Amino acid sequence: MKSITTARRTAQETIRLGVIMNGVTGRMGANQHLARSIVAIREAGGIPAPGGRVIWPDPILVGRNERKLRALADEHGFERWSTDLGACLDDPADAIYFDALTTRLRPAAVRAAIAAGKHVYCEKPIAPDLATAVDLARAARTAGVKNGVVQDKLWLPGLLKLRRLLDSGFCGRLLSVRLEFGYWVFPGTDSPPSQRPSWNYRREDGGGIFLDMYCHWQYVLEGLFGPIRSVVAVGATHLPERVDEEGRPYRATAEDAAYGILQLGRGVIAQVNSSWVTRVRRDDLLTIHVDGTEGSAVAGLRACRAQSRAETPVAIWNPDLPQTLDFREGWREVDADKDFDNAFKAQWELFLRHVALGEPFPWDFLQGARGVQLAQLAQRSWREGCVVEVPELTL
Ligand SMILES: NC(=O)c1ccc[n+]([C@@H]2O[C@H](COP(=O)([O-])OP(=O)(O)OC[C@H]3O[C@@H](n4cnc5c(N)ncnc54)[C@H](O)[C@@H]3O)[C@@H](O)[C@H]2O)c1
Repeated sequence: MKSITTARRTAQETIRLGVIMNGVTGRMGANQHLARSIVAIREAGGIPAPGGRVIWPDPILVGRNERKLRALADEHGFERWSTDLGACLDDPADAIYFDALTTRLRPAAVRAAIAAGKHVYCEKPIAPDLATAVDLARAARTAGVKNGVVQDKLWLPGLLKLRRLLDSGFCGRLLSVRLEFGYWVFPGTDSPPSQRPSWNYRREDGGGIFLDMYCHWQYVLEGLFGPIRSVVAVGATHLPERVDEEGRPYRATAEDAAYGILQLGRGVIAQVNSSWVTRVRRDDLLTIHVDGTEGSAVAGLRACRAQSRAETPVAIWNPDLPQTLDFREGWREVDADKDFDNAFKAQWELFLRHVALGEPFPWDFLQGARGVQLAQLAQRSWREGCVVEVPELTL
């Protein structure tokens, strides 16, 4: 494995980008960002750049726990790791700071990285509240550092296929969207053990499904269907007790389900259910059902199925007789043969190209702040029991 870190880069000119990866021992840091993105990019020989050059990310793994860092570094054949973030930020050899810390810890670390002149890429949400998110976006702009936030769902194969279908005009005039996200996250009170980090269920630690998922739904809905005009939402903490990583019971202070209705541009209505307390009987953990005048589509994480107006069955309501129609038939898979890269890796490549080559990267901190804004407005709607307009956010 060591060969990954030391191999190649003889014949081609290499654009080395040192990446300080903070929080890399966590769930997202270790799997999606290190293994599935940075390591995968290196295993593919780097990112081809104009003039036969290659962009080569060179990570330094940063965290609190020496043992975990050493194990992760050994696993992937990396030599550089550190428990001293300050020293890493002081080193001019590493141009990029990446942050996959828990949400509450992110702003301070990102601020320090901006002050050190690093380009910054980070997990969503960029901050636990809008004021802090906007502040970070302003700081990055003032410092002139490149900045980006993870918006991985845009590169999910199912959503890329849906995007193509919508662009082709298949659905006609869009009417409504039904987004279903969620699955049963075991609370750990009996087996199996709890599945997600306990901070996800504590508001004081930046947890809660509004903040976690609405920053995704903001760019998913706007990217596919157009601007979000208003939101009305209700949240709930259905399971008030969970068990943490050490097996200790704790009180869940954040909502584990969020039920929202959003009005989009051109009269499109989106119903958005997000839940960690639902059992799945649908095609995937995320499904987006779109109805239009000419056709409908259902996208999952990987697949997208469509039904045209001509293929739509004539449904007849008669509870006295068994249903004769199979409503799952009559849908065909779109672009079934198409393969796509890992969504996180796809966005990493774009960010690294942005830094190395100055190519555009629209998923910046301001865009990240729009996600935090939607989460915050949805929570306000829940608190105040009203429909809340979504104003345009600028710096
Ligand atoms: N893009 C996505 O689909 C997606 C999915 C899940 C989580 N996330 C985001 O990724 C981020 C991390 O989530 P996760 O599920 O990997 O969490 P996690 O708890 O598994 O990892 C958090 C990391 O922060 C570190 N950390 C925690 N407390 C610390 C402290 N006091 N000092 C220094 N380091 C500390 C941990 O050691 C760990 O490395 C969150 O902001 C979350 O919103 C994104």
